[in-house]
Amino acid sequence: MSSSERVLEVRDLVKHFPLTQGIVFKRQIGAIKAVDGVSFDLRKGETLGIVGESGCGKSTLAKVLMALERPTSGSVTINGKDIAKARGSELKRMRRNIQMVMQDPYTSLNPRMTVGDIIGEPFEIHTEVAPKGDRRKKVQELLEVVGLNPDHINRYPHQFSGGQRQRIGIARGLALQPEIIVCDEPVSALDVSIQAQVINLLERLQNEFDLAYIFIAHDLSVVRHISDRVGVMYLGKFVELGKDNDIYDKPAHPYTQALLSAVPVPDPEGREQRERIILQGDPPSPANPPTGCRFRTRCWKAQEICAEQEPLLQIRPGTGHESACHFAETHDVVHAG
Ligand SMILES: Nc1ncnc2c1ncn2[C@@H]1O[C@H](COP(=O)(O)OP(=O)(O)OP(=O)(O)O)[C@@H](O)[C@H]1O
Ligand code: SF4
Ligand SMILES: [Mg+2]
Repeated sequence: MSSSERVLEVRDLVKHFPLTQGIVFKRQIGAIKAVDGVSFDLRKGETLGIVGESGCGKSTLAKVLMALERPTSGSVTINGKDIAKARGSELKRMRRNIQMVMQDPYTSLNPRMTVGDIIGEPFEIHTEVAPKGDRRKKVQELLEVVGLNPDHINRYPHQFSGGQRQRIGIARGLALQPEIIVCDEPVSALDVSIQAQVINLLERLQNEFDLAYIFIAHDLSVVRHISDRVGVMYLGKFVELGKDNDIYDKPAHPYTQALLSAVPVPDPEGREQRERIILQGDPPSPANPPTGCRFRTRCWKAQEICAEQEPLLQIRPGTGHESACHFAETHDVVHAG
């Protein structure tokens, strides 16, 4: 990958939240290791899907990428500049290029603002993008781009359905013409029938505007549809990263294999061929992750070395893509249909 194609470079990113005790005299007794050493690149026009169980650090990663949270260490380089170190007007300029679509269209839009004001709000901060006289026209154009009626510019969020509200959120994300959009579970709160429409819209916009997406979800099947590559997260780290077909058809890490085995197979033939892997217990606390491999307390393949040596995310022999397991081996997955 040539560096000119990369819009985002994330290196050794760490975000720890202090864990404190006491109300008057707060003492730090440890740290919640929400993101604990994540590295990846994102190319222009590419979609990286990120999946993992609740609490594995997906939203924290998204917030650090957007510079809404400062990292504990590591870098987030956008077009050659580290947004984590940027301040003042430089940070403001860099933020134009990375925007976010939030999970819940019911709570993320201010109910007292009209749709026009919601979508046009970024222009108040970045006045250079749309001078005051042009704003209404720009907002109407954005409504049209996301498939909404431009005449509805003066309506309020409650006058729209869930799917339409998410379109409003997407229009707002597009307003500053960013190169990167971080979508944090953008369809999780929507009905299954609406999910596909919103994903199709995101794909159309990606082609139209050459957008790069980070697309976060719990559901592996949702991510597959839209992703070029997929990263699987467990307790603050990527355990597997590769092209979407490699991850879905030939996962190499036991955690990914378990996640995929939980996706239902409707045809009975496939069901017979496929063993279901049931993960034991919940993920351990990110305040006190296991030594060595973090997945070892739930892994059926764990050996002594797994407690002693941390497996690094690297291309493992015979697998063709990166995974963080001492005993990585591909496992053919039978999919629905
Ligand atoms: N501001 C904060 N202060 C302290 N701990 C936090 C903070 N934000 C997140 N955490 C903790 O960091 C860990 C990762 O949380 P995060 O919200 O990033 O997970 P997630 O993968 O997005 O989960 P979900 O799928 O439920 O959205 C959790 O243990 C969470 O409790
Ligand atoms: S390194 Fe060991 S514990 Fe971790 S996933 Fe691989 S086999 Fe399981
Ligand atoms: Mg989250």
